Amino acid sequence: MADRSLPTADPRPTVLVRGGTVVDPTGTRRADVLITAGRVAAVEEGMTKPRGAVVLEADGCVVAPGLVDLHTHLRQPGREESETIETGTRAASLGGFTAVVAMPNTEPALDSAEAVRNVQELATTASAEVAVAGAITVGRAGERLAPMSEMAALGVRLFTDDGAGVQSAGLMRRALDYARGLGVTLAQHCEDGSLAGHGAMHEGAWSSRLGVPGLPAVAEEVMVARDIALTRAVGGRIHFLHLSTAASVELVRRAKSEGVAVTAEAAPHHFSLTDGCASGYDPVFKVNPPLRPQCDVDGVKAGLADGTIDAIATDHAPHSPELKDLPFDQAPPGMLGLQTALSLATTELDLPLAQVLALLSWQPAAIGGLDPSNGGGQGGPITAGSAANLCVIDPGANWTVEPASLASRSRNSPYLGRTLTGRVRHTVFRGEPVVIDAEAQR
Ligand code: DOR
Repeated sequence: MADRSLPTADPRPTVLVRGGTVVDPTGTRRADVLITAGRVAAVEEGMTKPRGAVVLEADGCVVAPGLVDLHTHLRQPGREESETIETGTRAASLGGFTAVVAMPNTEPALDSAEAVRNVQELATTASAEVAVAGAITVGRAGERLAPMSEMAALGVRLFTDDGAGVQSAGLMRRALDYARGLGVTLAQHCEDGSLAGHGAMHEGAWSSRLGVPGLPAVAEEVMVARDIALTRAVGGRIHFLHLSTAASVELVRRAKSEGVAVTAEAAPHHFSLTDGCASGYDPVFKVNPPLRPQCDVDGVKAGLADGTIDAIATDHAPHSPELKDLPFDQAPPGMLGLQTALSLATTELDLPLAQVLALLSWQPAAIGGLDPSNGGGQGGPITAGSAANLCVIDPGANWTVEPASLASRSRNSPYLGRTLTGRVRHTVFRGEPVVIDAEAQR
């Protein structure tokens, strides 16, 4: 075996993750993990600490591949008062994420090679990998296809007009055809504008009682059904963003059983909050798709449990107080998600931790094309030679979500004051400990 104390030219420290239980796509085992120069050097029980190594204590903890978020709004360029790549990826690392997919609804939208390259350059010093999602249509306006091939040439693997769905079925059909040729995935925000109107919360008993314009469940479901039909006809791959209704989940369940290449994600707020949370008109509970009644929450949970939904994705949507504190009907939709996703999944879902990690790490990594089978370093097995993107989770730790613990530039978390079980203790990104004992290191 090589002398593990040999100095290397690489400036990154040698790191020993000691005393934990490794959980990855290959299974579960007790092991220490030694990291040098950005890669896992050894995975063995009872390793001796090499001279000068940084030790990350993992007693009673789970050591897993870093989490991968398919749905993050980093707001840069254009909305830096709400978030930046620096603050958003710091929040990501505190939440155990070593990669995030940056949504293209920035200002201007990420709809060209130049715009994508700009974000990629800004992200070189970030605390997590930033995979850019490109827009499907120019300016996300739903009229003309964006130059997807130019963006794909820069490594973009997911395309979406998120914030809006592609309204025209004809355009969506052409986009699927184009995407299939490029080998990329389209990610749809399922919302039919003609049904959604100006709805500000789920259309149902609560919206009637509160007198808030409703956004019906069927606005989501018709687009899910339409895009399944289009994908069946055209081929290609579609990923459904933030599914929120039981009927949407059932449509995906059936499509998968018929062999249509669909994947789906759900956001933590759609399995942990209901539309009744908005009873006090607090805009922190305004989100799109909206919070739904308990029967839909149960449908989303069932979809996560039986594998219909492939990923938990945060839809981290920071908004500055100036905007988010407007009256309910005027405030923008969206809530923070990166720092609470793992804890909400372990607190709210009755699933084994390995299944939660599949939903938060290796399955989204594969959907985003960030896993080792696609040449990436995310979500893969923790073995000698693999990229050192890891998180260490204390499944039994309780913590209370407080404003001071949030790294985001914004404060719009609906979970402030809530005590959750399960906490990210350390995060290692490209071999560097970016979070130690729940404190950001950069
Ligand atoms: O609540 C949401 N906020 N849903 C979206 O689709 C967009 C997002 C945002 O960008 O704020």
